[in-house]
This record gives sequence, structure tokens and C-alpha cells, in this order.
Amino acid sequence: MRKIAGVSAVTVDTTAMSRKELEDLRVQLQARASKQANPQHSPNVGPGIDRLGKKRIRNIIAIISGKGGVGKSFVTSMLASELRRQGYEVGVLDADLTGPSIAKIFGVNERPHKNEAGAIEPIRTKTGVKVMSINLVLDDPTMPVIWRGPIVNSVIRQLYGDVEWGDLHYLLVDLPPGTSDAPLTVFQSIPLDGIIVVSSPQELASMIVTKAVNMARKMDAPIVGLIENMTYLACPDCGTRIDLFGESVGARFAESLGIPFLGGVPLDPNIPRLSDQGSIETYISPVFANVANELRQNSIRQVEQLTQGLPIAWGT
Ligand SMILES: Nc1ncnc2c1ncn2[C@@H]1O[C@H](COP(=O)(O)OP(=O)(O)OP(=O)(O)O)[C@@H](O)[C@H]1O
Ligand SMILES: [Mg+2]
Ligand SMILES: [Zn+2]
Repeated sequence: MRKIAGVSAVTVDTTAMSRKELEDLRVQLQARASKQANPQHSPNVGPGIDRLGKKRIRNIIAIISGKGGVGKSFVTSMLASELRRQGYEVGVLDADLTGPSIAKIFGVNERPHKNEAGAIEPIRTKTGVKVMSINLVLDDPTMPVIWRGPIVNSVIRQLYGDVEWGDLHYLLVDLPPGTSDAPLTVFQSIPLDGIIVVSSPQELASMIVTKAVNMARKMDAPIVGLIENMTYLACPDCGTRIDLFGESVGARFAESLGIPFLGGVPLDPNIPRLSDQGSIETYISPVFANVANELRQNSIRQVEQLTQGLPIAWGT
């Protein structure tokens, strides 16, 4: 058993999920999915989708984008790292089933354990962020491709609902790209408190981000703001800022949409390098301190209270 620094309350002796347990989980997921394919009841959000409860999590923040590949997973992992650095208990739920990348970025590949209550324990990263992703649970990489529609719904619900997240100040949810069913399912299933929009400067010229923002607006959660990723290039020789797309496109765009601008992250070759190495937690970008402050100030739900009662330790 792996000891988790700072979580003194957890004393259950856990064992790694066996192949049999994983198989059971898969069968259970599929059974649930076929049940949900039956459009029986529609409580408040849609067929087969009940919004799950809040658990012991203060703030659930989803990270969305219009297009894929603009840096959602990067932003999610950086914001998680920054909040963790500030002393919060943070979780990351990788809700991108078709392209899960959170585990890799954080360099975790350990098998989640099941505790005595039968709940799945998330994996802790090097600095103590709790991570849960489909590719930690199932080792067959073809699985997420096979699962469509209702099964996606079912898996998302399980990754959130059947995981023992414990007391968290923040749970960040890395969404699949776009405005298709997959992000919508997450919006509808998980009780979100806020949404962060990520875009690249090129994307801002199109309607894609606007579409994503409009989707977010329809949901019952405030938009925290827009982060512009890959916004400028820092000269590798002297560090001078090179504005590839003109200055502050993001700020103007956010203003036109009536949402706060949270800042821009430069294009930096260290980012893909550290992501590949699984050590994104060592990367520092001032933007995320700003975003973390923004979150704390507007906090949606009080976080300080929890800080006091919670032993927070660094590293493992
Ligand atoms: N500011 C940046 N500078 C350089 N590379 C970046 C930057 N942000 C992200 N990247 C790299 O770009 C790629 C895409 O980023 P990321 O995976 O975070 O995007 P995504 O929106 O989550 O993509 P998907 O839609 O596929 O989930 C990754 O290789 C990442 O390391
Ligand atoms: Mg991603
Ligand atoms: Zn230069």
C-alpha cells in the first residue's frame, strides 16, 4: 500500500484493482449504459441523466474549448498545480475519454486502489494532486474508442461519482473538445460551479469559441473567464515578446463576449517537453497564479474554511 502524505484519516488497507475487479467494473459500466439507453425518466436535465450530488468538494470547475488541441489539458494541469502549490486540496477528473492525457502530463501510471467501501481511490501526483482518468483504470487502450453515447455518460458518472475524492477545495474537470455530446454530458451530469474557456488566438477569429461560450452559458454555472493559450512567442535568444497575432486579441475578444480575460500563456517548447516527461508540475507560468486568485476571490464556495480543518502536506 502506498502512504499518502497529509491524508491521515485514511487508514483503510487498499489493494490494487485486480484484473477481475477491472473486468467487473467494465461489465458493470456496460450494464448501466444499456439501462440508460432506455430513455425512461428525465429528471431535470435530459434522458438518463441526473445531475450527481456535490460530495465533499467545494468548487467544481470545468475547462472547455471550442476546438481540440488548444491546450485544455495543459491549462487544467497547470491550474491544478498552482492551486496545489498554494496549499489547496485539488483533484483533476479527466473527462476526455477519447483522448485522455491528464495521467501522462502528470506522469502517473499507478493503478487506482479500491477502498473497503468499494470506492476507487484517485492517484496522487508528485505534489499531491488527486487524479482520476479512464486510462488509469482500464489498460486496454481500445476501450474508450468502443464506448460511445450512453456508455460515455456512464463512465463519466462513475469517474466522478464512484471515486473517493475526499475533501477537495477544487475539482478541475478536463473536458473533451468541442460542443458535442461528450462535453454536454459532463455539463449535465456533474454539478459544476464554474467554467474556464481556453482558446488559441487563431481560434478567436472564428465562431468556435463563441459557440463553446454559448453552450457554457446555457448551463447552470458562471463562466470564470477566458485563457488565451499560445498567445505570443518569447524569443529563444533574448526573451523578447513576439506578438504573432497582434496584441491582446484575447482581452478584446473576452470583452466582446462579456466574460473576464484571465491572461495569455506564451508558446513555449518547454510545455510539450515537460508534458511528455510527466513533470508539468515543475513548470511555472504567472498566468495561473492570477487565475487561482481569481477563483479564490470569486469563490463560488468558501475555501478558507476547509483549509483550516484539512491537513495539507507537500509531496509524497
Ligand atoms: N503554450 C504552449 N506552448 C507550447 N505548446 C503547448 C502550449 N500549450 C499546450 N501545448 C502543447 O500543445 C499540445 C496540445 O495541448 P493540450 O493537450 O493541452 O490541448 P487540448 O486542448 O487538451 O487537446 P485535446 O482537445 O486533444 O484534448 C500538447 O502537446 C501540449 O503540450
Ligand atoms: Mg486534452
Ligand atoms: Zn531575441
